[in-house]
Amino acid sequence: MEYALITGASSGIGFELANIMAENGHHLILVARREAALQDLKNHLEKSYQATVEIVAMDLSKPGQAKALHEHCVNHRMRVNCLINNAGYGDYGKFDLSKLEIYQNMLQLNIVALTELTALFLDEMKKRKSGRILNVGSLAAFQPGPNLAVYAATKAYTMQFTEALNYELRGTGVTVTLLSPGITETGFFARSHMGVAAIVKNGLMDARTVAMAGYQAMMVGKLNVIPGWKNKILAFGSKTMPSREGLLRIAAAIFKDTSATH
Ligand SMILES: NC(=O)c1ccc[n+]([C@@H]2O[C@H](COP(=O)([O-])OP(=O)(O)OC[C@H]3O[C@@H](n4cnc5c(N)ncnc54)[C@H](OP(=O)(O)O)[C@@H]3O)[C@@H](O)[C@H]2O)c1
Repeated sequence: MEYALITGASSGIGFELANIMAENGHHLILVARREAALQDLKNHLEKSYQATVEIVAMDLSKPGQAKALHEHCVNHRMRVNCLINNAGYGDYGKFDLSKLEIYQNMLQLNIVALTELTALFLDEMKKRKSGRILNVGSLAAFQPGPNLAVYAATKAYTMQFTEALNYELRGTGVTVTLLSPGITETGFFARSHMGVAAIVKNGLMDARTVAMAGYQAMMVGKLNVIPGWKNKILAFGSKTMPSREGLLRIAAAIFKDTSATH
């Protein structure tokens, strides 16, 4: 049987992607750390749709887990024809030695696991000349992120990696798509302690709209999708800004800590 594998399916954008894909007839492998949340989602999706849903509770920020996940799929004869690298997190505040472990885990999850899963599942997709990959980046990738320095850099990696890979894969039957959401209402802000950032006061998109944009773009093999017209304008502004220093100053204002001004 063919499956879509979604990392970070226990909440937020990944949770909505799981719902959308089950509604559209896909069988699913859902991955995240919170097993109870995955089990609840599996029960709901199997009851509501004609979907077979497998869950794998694992911490993808631990080295070796991407390989273990791939082996699990191979051993259980679950063929992955669609891979969604969505799991990721940020950490808001100035770059600081005391957060080194948080950065190490973030790099491992946002960059290493995403790259390893892509390599492992892409190899089989290329042999079958068919497959879809969706990597979840961020609008934070379009400029450096003061107060989000490591996170923004991980998403810049995701952007460059995905765009280059899309080019390499042309004509192979396999496509890779980059979804670049702006601020979206999910568990992201609690985990990244980002509630005090100026940008969060600017109105959030809902996770289902963002997930739907990603799903539709992935299914037609589009290279890039930025959900929401405000986000499209922000991305265009970042790309066309003539001065790097000017871009940095605007980014610093966007990611400013508003609690410090009270
Ligand atoms: N929300 C935004 O404003 C926004 C904007 C741009 C980009 N994004 C990106 O969108 C993606 C999804 O985030 P979200 O906004 O939906 O946030 P979210 O609600 O916090 O979801 C993150 C998901 O990733 C999973 N996850 C976190 N750490 C993990 C780990 N070590 N191993 C396995 N799974 C892990 C979480 O599940 P468990 O906690 O159960 O492990 C959860 O299912 C991320 O890549 C994020 O960078 C979000």
